[in-house]
Amino acid sequence: MKNYNIAIAGATGAVGRVMREILEERDFPVNQLRLLASERSVGKKFGFDGKDLEVELLQNDSFNNIDIALFSAGANISKKFSPVAVKKGAVVIDNSSAFRMDPDVPLVVPEVNPDDIFRNKGIIANPNCSTIQMVVVLKPLHDAFRIRRVVVSSYQSVSGTGKEAIEELLEQTKNSLGNEEIDSQVYPHQIAFNVLPHIDVFEDNLYTKEEMKMVKETIKIIGDDSIAITATTVRVPVFVSHSESVNLELEKEFSLEDVREILSNAEGVTLQDNPDKNIYPTPINAAGKDDCFVGRVRRDETLESGLNLWIVSDNLRKGAALNAIQIAERLIKAN
Ligand code: A2P
Repeated sequence: MKNYNIAIAGATGAVGRVMREILEERDFPVNQLRLLASERSVGKKFGFDGKDLEVELLQNDSFNNIDIALFSAGANISKKFSPVAVKKGAVVIDNSSAFRMDPDVPLVVPEVNPDDIFRNKGIIANPNCSTIQMVVVLKPLHDAFRIRRVVVSSYQSVSGTGKEAIEELLEQTKNSLGNEEIDSQVYPHQIAFNVLPHIDVFEDNLYTKEEMKMVKETIKIIGDDSIAITATTVRVPVFVSHSESVNLELEKEFSLEDVREILSNAEGVTLQDNPDKNIYPTPINAAGKDDCFVGRVRRDETLESGLNLWIVSDNLRKGAALNAIQIAERLIKAN
């Protein structure tokens, strides 16, 4: 089997670090791994496959001889360097929002629309973290019962913002407990011991960009614009894993037994649903795991065919790094 030259752009970031760990964990056939970041990180060392690798400066030359470039350094960096990487012959799997809604760029969750991978023209977009975990659960239900409408509220961890937000929550928690002054740099308000109904910027329709990403990306990935979606996305003082309360209006009649069976058999989904034993998904239990966990499965008794679910997944893994590497695995398998 061929071994591949891989670059991680943003290798020192919250997602980039997990990309490196997952490549190792899954025995991805790596010939050479290049860790790329800003000047601030040049020379830092990270272990990979028993060796120490030094972080290099991300620049145009970084992509010489690279087969697959994993990007997670923000949309501006992706816009600047992805075309360079593609020109040098690499396939880019981009975790930023730069190309997600570009009609020429497939937006892929391997459990949902794996065939779209092979429509790429050099760039494949990795969806937003909160969208990925929702569509993995929604797709098998849509296939069985057709989803008419989705009402989702998210409870998103700070690691989705990046390493500076993780630091900010840590510092604010310590300072708050020590009665010290609280400084907010990353978020517009204190995040420790608080809840902010605000992720990304506000748009003209009064929704945030994150909320509109959930709407537009879900439709693009599932490939059905008849699904109506409305979202409220909320930042909570949790380090890892996003949680979502999801209300569905289905077209067809269903039984809870059928829903449970479909979810139990769905790829990438683990059903954790036993209220008698206090079993349901939580961010702490999902952190470090690969699946999307679903529980609190129950009827919405105010609708004829309504279903409520609680979905939790590690936003750095399935919501970002793992999904990107699963795309890469499908690509090399097809080679
Ligand atoms: P660095 O650590 O050198 O700043 P996060 O999403 O956790 O905030 O991480 C962002 C990632 O993107 C980090 O690896 C960061 O590197 C990288 N990055 C940010 N700005 C640049 C830049 N101008 N050039 C290269 N890498 C960058």
